Amino acid sequence: MKVLVIGGGAREHALCRSLSLDPDVSALHCAPGNAGIGELAELHTVDALDGDAVAVLARRLGAGLVVVGPEAPLVEGVADAVREAGIACFGPSAEAARLEGSKAFAKDVMAAAGVPTARSYVCTTAAEIDEALDAFGAPYVVKDDGLAAGKGVVVTDDLAAAREHALACGRVVIEEYLDGPEVSLFAITDGTTVLPLQPAQDFKRALDGDEGPNTGGMGAYSPLPWADSGLVDEVLRTVLQPTVDELRRRGTPFSGLLYAGLALTSRGVRVIEFNARFGDPETQVVLARLRTPLAGVLLAAAEGTLADLEPLRWSEDAAVTVVVASHNYPGTPRTGDPITGLDEVVQNDAPHAYVLHAGTRHTDAAVLSSGGRVLSVTATGPDLARARERAYTAVGRIHLDGSHHRTDIAAKAAADTV
Ligand code: AMP
Ligand code: GLY
Repeated sequence: MKVLVIGGGAREHALCRSLSLDPDVSALHCAPGNAGIGELAELHTVDALDGDAVAVLARRLGAGLVVVGPEAPLVEGVADAVREAGIACFGPSAEAARLEGSKAFAKDVMAAAGVPTARSYVCTTAAEIDEALDAFGAPYVVKDDGLAAGKGVVVTDDLAAAREHALACGRVVIEEYLDGPEVSLFAITDGTTVLPLQPAQDFKRALDGDEGPNTGGMGAYSPLPWADSGLVDEVLRTVLQPTVDELRRRGTPFSGLLYAGLALTSRGVRVIEFNARFGDPETQVVLARLRTPLAGVLLAAAEGTLADLEPLRWSEDAAVTVVVASHNYPGTPRTGDPITGLDEVVQNDAPHAYVLHAGTRHTDAAVLSSGGRVLSVTATGPDLARARERAYTAVGRIHLDGSHHRTDIAAKAAADTV
């Protein structure tokens, strides 16, 4: 099977890595890709938001499966265009991707499906905003209704800051604060059958100790040794399956990757957010542990045959990923700086640790940073402590002027103090 992956982040590098190891994949293409993906796949230039252009490229390449990585093309309807061209596509329709594209829509689906989530108000005027902030009190949780690359959410005790963010949003969701550890659980679905993957934990804040601003994610690990063994089944029953059933009932079935961002509160599991695609950086650790070849699973989701699949097989290993970000990320990042030490990781740490590229590009002489999250170093090991050690050893070999990374990814889980 020839596979075309759309996107160019560390998530797509992880997807391409798994697909390149799948004996059923005869050719791997990616658009636009990045410097790291270019070592695994043939890269192409395409406007990833232009569904017709993606479909034309897929047809020209003879792709039997298109995998759409990021949310923006999904919300734009790229998966619809590819399917209309008669090519199997992993990724939801524009209608179903609204689960991520509009927080208000997601709340509406959850209410209809009886899925537990934070109580919330959708506000469009200053008066509504003040009323909602007053109703919930601090800490305030204020979310831009639309896509914001992980940066549209402000959680703060400062009423003036909450109000300022809410007024800047236009349409805004203000909700109850959820206490408790966060878990990301992904499920692959064809619109009817729902296949949960292994849970992971993401680190959203920029700085150690969960300080600093929200980011797209600074690191992740899997499995979660502290989590209840019934967690995945519970989330399947109370969150994932009802949501998939509700979207099918509405005539807009969701096929692709359903990402549930969850808070494990003292009153039970609550959905913080849904995404309509693999999470980044959680994908890096989840796929590091998946033993079942990936292409067949994604194709079964695209073709509606997930029910026929054998149960997924998982490695007993633990995996940790650490994101290396540019100077000033999540503010406007500085780009164009050379990255060195990548070869040392290959020479010293492979196969247990490896670099997945995100914001990188090649010149003849060097690999340069080209985005906020530049790369993520992923490592596996018999337990989290060993995986962590390997990941940080590899991070230590990489040099990027002005870059920063968190030093506490998976630290509490490895020490059993979550
Ligand atoms: P989201 O983009 O909705 O995932 O929000 C980004 C981050 O903000 C989440 O990962 C949480 O850490 C935090 N957050 C969002 N909603 C809530 C909430 N209702 N209560 C507490 N923290 C939240
Ligand atoms: N890791 C958070 C996200 O992918 O949205």
